[in-house]
Amino acid sequence: MTGLVYVLNGPNLNLLGLREPEIYGHDTLDDIAGRLEDRARELDLEIDLRQSNHEGHLIDWMHDAQARDAKAILLNAGALTHTSLALYDAIRSIKTPVIEVHLSNPIAREEYRHHSFVGMAAKGTIAGFGALSYMLALEAAARL
Ligand code: DQA
Repeated sequence: MTGLVYVLNGPNLNLLGLREPEIYGHDTLDDIAGRLEDRARELDLEIDLRQSNHEGHLIDWMHDAQARDAKAILLNAGALTHTSLALYDAIRSIKTPVIEVHLSNPIAREEYRHHSFVGMAAKGTIAGFGALSYMLALEAAARL
């Protein structure tokens, strides 16, 4: 049976490639999606990648992932990582494992990025490897 992996992306990640490329790189979210899909095929996984600038969408999609019996959720919540108690509660409310993903390494950046509500509830975190963070997270998801 093919395992389903949700890849959820929060605010401003639709602008990847254009947005502060010196921090986040030149790859667009579509570039990342293509690479994830190629690797997912090899791992016998299916990717459902979504992006929203709205917190509630991310929460609804986490509930959907559980309802669809997804194997894992890769979550780059953008700045909501550092502010959203609702995302923390959502992760704790579902059984589907959540892997926190960041392109940059928030701990090595401004102090206001050091706290992660997502990380406090996630199974684990992969950060700092640019677009490769998503690929590494998929490898981890495949082994859960
Ligand atoms: C980010 C890191 C966050 O601090 C920031 O707000 C983002 C992107 C990353 O992928 O490096 O929007 O999640």
